[in-house]
Amino acid sequence: MDTAQIRTRFLNHFAGRGHTVVPSASLIAQDPTLLLVNAGMVPFKPYFLGDLAAPWPRATSVQKVVRTVDIDNVGRTARHASFFQMCGNFSFGDYFKAEAIPFAFELLVDGYGFNPDDLWATVYLDDDEAERIWQKLLPAERIQRRGKEDNYWSMGVPGPCGPCSEIYFDRGPAFGREGGPVADENRYLEVWNLVFMQFERGEGAGYEFPILRELPSRNIDTGMGLERMATILQSVDNLYEIDISRPVLDTAGRLTGTSYGADAGADVRLRVIADHSRTAAMLISDGVMPSNEGRGYVLRRLLRRAVRDARLLGAREPVMGELFAAVGQAMGPIYPELVDDAETITGVAVAEEASFAETLRTGTTIFDTAARQVRAAGSTTLAGDEAFKLHDTYGFPIDLTLEMAAEAGLSVDEAGFRRLMERQRQTAKADRASRRIGNLDLSAFRPILAAAGPTTFTGYEELTRESTVVGLVGIADGLGRMTAGAGEEVGVVLDITPFYAESGGQEADLGVLRFDGGEVEVLDVQRPVPELVLHRVRVRVGELKVGDQVHADVDAGRRRAVSRSHTATHLVHAAFRRALGEGATQAGSLNSPGRLRFDFHTVGAIPPSVLADVEDEINEVALRDLPVRAFVTTQDEARRLGAMALFGEKYGDAVRVVDVGDYARELCGGTHVGSSAQLGAVKLLSESSISAGTRRVEGLVGIDAFRFLAREHLLVSELATAIKARPDELVDRVGDIVGRLRDAERELDRLRAAAVLAGLSGLQMHRAHHAEELIGRLPDPLVAGALQLAR
Ligand code: SER
Repeated sequence: MDTAQIRTRFLNHFAGRGHTVVPSASLIAQDPTLLLVNAGMVPFKPYFLGDLAAPWPRATSVQKVVRTVDIDNVGRTARHASFFQMCGNFSFGDYFKAEAIPFAFELLVDGYGFNPDDLWATVYLDDDEAERIWQKLLPAERIQRRGKEDNYWSMGVPGPCGPCSEIYFDRGPAFGREGGPVADENRYLEVWNLVFMQFERGEGAGYEFPILRELPSRNIDTGMGLERMATILQSVDNLYEIDISRPVLDTAGRLTGTSYGADAGADVRLRVIADHSRTAAMLISDGVMPSNEGRGYVLRRLLRRAVRDARLLGAREPVMGELFAAVGQAMGPIYPELVDDAETITGVAVAEEASFAETLRTGTTIFDTAARQVRAAGSTTLAGDEAFKLHDTYGFPIDLTLEMAAEAGLSVDEAGFRRLMERQRQTAKADRASRRIGNLDLSAFRPILAAAGPTTFTGYEELTRESTVVGLVGIADGLGRMTAGAGEEVGVVLDITPFYAESGGQEADLGVLRFDGGEVEVLDVQRPVPELVLHRVRVRVGELKVGDQVHADVDAGRRRAVSRSHTATHLVHAAFRRALGEGATQAGSLNSPGRLRFDFHTVGAIPPSVLADVEDEINEVALRDLPVRAFVTTQDEARRLGAMALFGEKYGDAVRVVDVGDYARELCGGTHVGSSAQLGAVKLLSESSISAGTRRVEGLVGIDAFRFLAREHLLVSELATAIKARPDELVDRVGDIVGRLRDAERELDRLRAAAVLAGLSGLQMHRAHHAEELIGRLPDPLVAGALQLAR
């Protein structure tokens, strides 16, 4: 059974049992406590916690998952991978253990053809209920009880948790010892985890966490690893050898001149290369870019480990292009975006590989020097600040430093390194926090959300509105509160707001909230959780209280200027795609009042003529006075209509499409002008590189574009007057002046040198030793010049 069939059979099994099939969410977690989605239940967390009402009582999905905690096991065991697909079924307060257990058992036996004699189950220490249910399906001796480490599941961070029951498949005596999962987890392979989500855990390490409360409902969250299942059903040794991984493994073998299966050590490296390149491709396709922190660092580390292993196996040429092609082919049928965006995705990996090759060249020299110094000083430990410098200045990842140090027989002061990293992280964080709402503790928002529900945004249609304060949060302490007095800065949540929260590259609205006896100034607007709009305000006059009626008033001039930039950005995007091809997709943007920044993927610099043509076209299109129209539709329909979607960004099923006449059609949640003529003018200022394969264009819109052009015009007039030329003669005349100046300088140099030489020969005739003294005092270049002339 190939992986695609296993997947379909899973979804059908649960769809047939009343579950709604939900598409995989992006790997980029919406949940601010996580970097990357690490379990199938992550997108559903607010439903388990009761923060949001679940849209369906039951759901099923095949979720993309990245886990890097086990990264050192990748390639070494049969069952660890950094990326995998988790098939799951979920109940939000609907069914519980009595249905969840037989649902899974039936699929395994009837759907996948498992022999019930090969199946084992484990339950949590005190879970008599689950054990009783299992006893109807399996003999008592194949049901085992286990403790918290094995049979209690949590996300690893505060959130929903609960006891679980795991199902194991006995691979047979060839794979290890008798005695069930408690005895040997290699022979007994875990295939499915059924979690009985009943509690919420707080902060704590490992399993030492407090239980905060019982959840409002009893839920089910299950996870069946698709690749593990395929390993069993395809009777292969490990999950790198299944149908969707094997081609990548073989490509890695070919590129490194290594044949898989010949040498155990080399096999581990080949599996690492295959695993990491697949995970990297999936991350990039969800919009992660290599960087030195957060998810970008996870990606960078995976790519670099893969490249380094390929080199160690003997690859002399770049490997990423072909590895990614193999990943695209193997995974494309399930994830068409890997094929559709292949050029962009591969471009990112290829660029990272090239920059890493450079890092390896310089970094290795620096590492060797540092290692020599350590030994010369009679030590065996590379200092933390050396490791930090390698990382910070030369982009040398710490794991590489660790590996190379180990190979050189040295250890690294890792704790020292981590301290420096942490200090740097804190500085960056403080920096961000001082600028915006940033890192408020999200628990303050739960009661607000529970009491008032999601904020309604009305700012597409109106800029003022009467609404009610449903929550206040202290900016400094992140705690919920009831009042805020004059001079204080707080976060305000309204039931309805016309204020646009910063997102999609569009800056937040500013403005004021007026209330009986007072007024607050809106300084920033963000969505700390997707459902809530938070206005950071300073109270100017009066005391604002939860429950107050306010008159919300958006600064209309600023909003119009930002909207102009946003519409202009859509035109810039469309124009570049017309000029450079479909591959010129947006990588990021910033729309502020009268100013835009647009980053996009393309290879090489943009020739000035293309930039000029694009600018000309945008202005011409703007003057056609095209209507700007927004409508909401389904994601499939939007795609059918040819809407451009931001590369890597994931949209829900209901998407908003913004059309600028028939010129640009894009998925977008931002605000726009009513018609293109309202842009007035668009002036593109500059074009530059921000990273390999990504260019940045900056521009001005509306009155800012006009003022810029007017200023330039004035400057040209003044210049023309100053050098007494007509504006159209300026370039020639200035060229001429510069040329003459250069000639004059050369002549002057020649004369000076000749003068020195003359003095020199006179002295030589009479007082040679004084001449030497004089030469010693002359500036070097002058002496060199004089001597050259003399020759
Ligand atoms: N959340 C559980 C897991 O990830 C079951 O889906 O194992």
